[in-house]
Amino acid sequence: MIWTIFLLVQALLLYFILTHRSRSKSDPPLDKGVIPWLGHALEFGKDASKFLNRMKLKHGDIFTVRVAGRYVTVLLDPHSYDTVINDSDSLDFTRYAQVLMERIFNLRLPHHQPANAKEMMKKHFMGMNLTTLNSTMSRHLQASLKAEMPQNQKDWKEEGLFNLSYSLLFKAGYLSLFGGEQNNNSTDPSSVYKEYKKFDGLLTKMARGTLKPEEKRTAQSVRQRLWELLAPAGLIEEAGSSPWLHAYRRLLREEGADEETQKKAVLMQLWATQGNVGPAAFWLLGYLLTNPEALTAVKREFSVISPMGTSETSLLDRPVNTPVFDSVLEETLRLTAAPFITREVVQEKTLHMADGQQYLLRKGDRVCLFPFNSPQMDPEIHHEPQKYKYDRFLNEYGSVKRDFYKGGRRLKYYTMPWGAGTNGCVGQQFAINTIRHCVTQMLRCRRQTPVVMDLGCFNQRETCLSDTNLEIRTKTLETSKTHLF
Ligand code: HEM
Repeated sequence: MIWTIFLLVQALLLYFILTHRSRSKSDPPLDKGVIPWLGHALEFGKDASKFLNRMKLKHGDIFTVRVAGRYVTVLLDPHSYDTVINDSDSLDFTRYAQVLMERIFNLRLPHHQPANAKEMMKKHFMGMNLTTLNSTMSRHLQASLKAEMPQNQKDWKEEGLFNLSYSLLFKAGYLSLFGGEQNNNSTDPSSVYKEYKKFDGLLTKMARGTLKPEEKRTAQSVRQRLWELLAPAGLIEEAGSSPWLHAYRRLLREEGADEETQKKAVLMQLWATQGNVGPAAFWLLGYLLTNPEALTAVKREFSVISPMGTSETSLLDRPVNTPVFDSVLEETLRLTAAPFITREVVQEKTLHMADGQQYLLRKGDRVCLFPFNSPQMDPEIHHEPQKYKYDRFLNEYGSVKRDFYKGGRRLKYYTMPWGAGTNGCVGQQFAINTIRHCVTQMLRCRRQTPVVMDLGCFNQRETCLSDTNLEIRTKTLETSKTHLF
C-alpha cells in the first residue's frame, strides 16, 4: 500500500515537472484553468464563442489557454491577423489538418505534398476551369430541382428547409465532382447522401475524439459504407466524368497512395467540397424567407439580371454583378460561419500586434484566430451585430460597402467566413456561384408553384435558432478545419 501511494506521488510530481508552465515576460497572458491537463477543454468545447469572450474580457485581445494538454494562443484583434495568416514558415497549416485527417477519415497520406494538392485544387476551382465547372453544376442543379420540386401539386411532399437545401446541393455537387453523368453507372447520389448525413452527424465528435463506444461502431460502419460507395469515383476517365477527380486520383497515385488510401482521401474530399455549401444555402434561404424586405430586394435584382423566360442557366454561365445578393450572403455568413483558423507553431515566433505590443509564440503550441467573435460579431465594427441586416454590406447608393472601422482605423478583415491569405478557401467563388444559382432557381420555383417550406428553426426563432446556430457553427468550424487539406 505504502509503495502504491509512493509511486502515485512520484508520478504526480513527474507529471507536474514535465507539464508545468509559467508565464514569462514576453509570453501572452497565460490561463491554464483549474483542471489539471484538461484545462479549459470542457468550457471551450461547450460554447467556444462564449468562452473566448470571457477570456477576452479577462485578458484582452491575446491570451494562451490550456486545452486538453495543449497550449493554444488565441488572437482576437483583426488588425493583427495578417501577422498569423501571412507567416507560413513559423506557423504551419498542415500538421493540425493531418491530426484531423487521421481522426475523422482514418487517413494517412504517404509522401503528401500539400503544395501540389493545393495547386491542383486551384487549377480546377479557379480561373478558366471554373466556367466549365459552373455549367456542369448548373445542369445538375436544374435536374435535382426538378426532381425535388415537382410541378404537379399532387406529387408535393413536405420537407424541412435544412434537408431540402443540403440534399439538393449535395446531390448536384456529388454528380458534378464525383459521379460524372448519371447514365454511366455512377453511384446513386441519394444513397451517398443518406450515408453521408449519418457520417456528418458524428463528425464533430470524431474530430474531438469523444465518440461513445456505440457511436464509434456506427462511425466505422458508415465510413466503410461510404468508402465502398465512393470506390469507383474518378477511376475511369470518360466523357462527362470529373476532370478534377481524375487529377486528384493521379496525384494520389504519384504520391504512392494505394487504392485503400485513395478511397479514404476521396471521402475526405467529398466532405471538404460539400460540407459547407448546403448549410450556407439553408441559412441564406431561411433569412430571406423571414425578412420580406431582403427577399423583395433580391428578387428585384435577379429579375433585372435574368428576367423570366430567359435561359435558366444564365447566372452560372456568365459573370454577373449582384451586389444585393452578395450582401445578403455576406451577412448570412457573418452570422453563421465560425471557422477556427488554426496553425501550429513550428519555430519560435515574435508576434507583432497592431497596437505595438510584442509577444513570443512558443514552438509546439497552437495559435488560433476566431473571426466569429471579432470582426464578425464585434459591436465596435458592426452596429447591432446580432441583427440580420441584408444591406449591411451595401453603400447608400447600392455599391459594395468595404469600409468598416475598429479603433478609428479601417479594417482589412471585417468578416472572414472563407479564411484568408495563402490558406484561404479555394472553393469560394464556386460556392458563391452555386448558392446564388440555387437560390435564384428556388425562388423561381416558389413563384411558379407556391412550394410549402417548413422553415424549421426559423419559425421558432426564439427557442431554436440559437441551438441550431450553435450546431451549424460547430459544424462549419470543424468543416473548415478539414478544409485545411
Ligand atoms: C460556404 C461554403 C464554404 C465555406 C464557408 C468555406 C470555408 C473555408 C475556410 C474558412 C477555409 C480556411 C481554413 C483556414 O485558413 O484554416 C477554407 C479552406 C479551403 N476550402 Fe472552403 N469553404 C466553403 C466551400 C468550399 C468548396 C465548395 C470547396 C471546393 C473546392 C472548398 C475548398 C477549400 C480548400 C481546398 C481549402 C484549403 C485551402 C488550402 O489548402 O490552403 N471550400 N474554406
